[in-house]
Amino acid sequence: MLLARTLQRRAGARAARSFAGIEKTLDGKRSTEEERFIREQEKANKAKRGANVKEITTVGVVGLGLMGHGIAQISAAAGFQTVGVDLNAEVLANGQKAIETSVAKLNSRKASKNPDFDAPAATEETLARLSYASTVDAVAQCDLIVEAIVEDASIKQKFYADLGERAKAEAIFASNTSSLAVAPMAAASQRPDRFVGLHYFNPVQLMKLCEVVQTPEVDDEVVELVDGWARLTGKITVRCKDTPGFIVNRLLVPNLAAAIAMAERGDAAIQDIDAAMCLGAGHPMGPLQLADYVGLDTCLSILKGWCAQYPDEPAFFVPPSLTAKVAAGKLGRKSGEGYYVWGDGPASTKPSGVSGL
Ligand SMILES: NC(=O)c1ccc[n+]([C@@H]2O[C@H](COP(=O)([O-])OP(=O)(O)OC[C@H]3O[C@@H](n4cnc5c(N)ncnc54)[C@H](O)[C@@H]3O)[C@@H](O)[C@H]2O)c1
Repeated sequence: MLLARTLQRRAGARAARSFAGIEKTLDGKRSTEEERFIREQEKANKAKRGANVKEITTVGVVGLGLMGHGIAQISAAAGFQTVGVDLNAEVLANGQKAIETSVAKLNSRKASKNPDFDAPAATEETLARLSYASTVDAVAQCDLIVEAIVEDASIKQKFYADLGERAKAEAIFASNTSSLAVAPMAAASQRPDRFVGLHYFNPVQLMKLCEVVQTPEVDDEVVELVDGWARLTGKITVRCKDTPGFIVNRLLVPNLAAAIAMAERGDAAIQDIDAAMCLGAGHPMGPLQLADYVGLDTCLSILKGWCAQYPDEPAFFVPPSLTAKVAAGKLGRKSGEGYYVWGDGPASTKPSGVSGL
């Protein structure tokens, strides 16, 4: 009895220690090295901003959900006339509302650091550059059309076949896909020389990175133009080939799967794996917590897609507990439970306990 209580106390202390570690690194603060890297890249960005993006003055963003509304916002804030399109009237209205709130908030934050900055005027200017529509024809005359619709290869290909017919000949297309191959969409659009992947991260307004994805068919000048445009929207850009998951997700998603598999084998407890990667590898969030954060359904759909497409790649596999969690509706933070329990659902910034496998 005494032994059992002692073990229980030790397990509790270990869990608390693990959570304390995660919380400490989850406070949103960047490390000094990260800050230095971002400062250096921003300096390089400013130097490169002379990049000629004169050909881009009007931008269309199709799909105004989680990602699209953020992309429309940063485009307008960077000075581009921007049209946001969504087929769903409710998403369109919510996207507009989210943009208005976010622009005002970011500008008032700027004003609190710089008393000369006129936040209401800046907000009004940005919002005046935005318009909204429910049909794709509204973007037909845009110079750049960024697509952020659902992550479904056949829906996206159909969308691009149609857009290719409607958009002006010189328009450039950019897909925000996070896991699909870019080349089949580019082929469907009938303009593969004017088509890039442009992978922003969530939340778009705050995340610094944008991956620019090049297929073998794309024109180098188009890549330069879109890269320059993305830098003007305040991002640090990196380039890569049209390879599964590009850079970030190719390295990240298999790592999440490997961490889940490690817990499934019983090599270490969920909270110990997460604490180890935070405190030993300097990651801001452990892999199982991050999987919950991303959404277990999203992780599963990416891994399943890659397994089907690249059956010989050993890094791509689906851990059985991931399939079981999704089947049980345990999708991570957004549903209130995944590998952790998230007391306040989507609003939670920290889990309240471990759910297990
Ligand atoms: N969610 C993320 O963290 C994240 C991160 C990076 C990239 N992405 C990628 O961004 C894209 C969008 O993801 P999301 O999370 O914003 O999705 P979402 O579901 O929030 O938004 C997609 C929107 O597209 C709209 N839509 C669908 N078909 C349309 C069409 N033909 N015309 C106009 N609107 C249409 C839907 O009504 C929906 O509102 C996906 O390709 C996804 O892989 C997502």
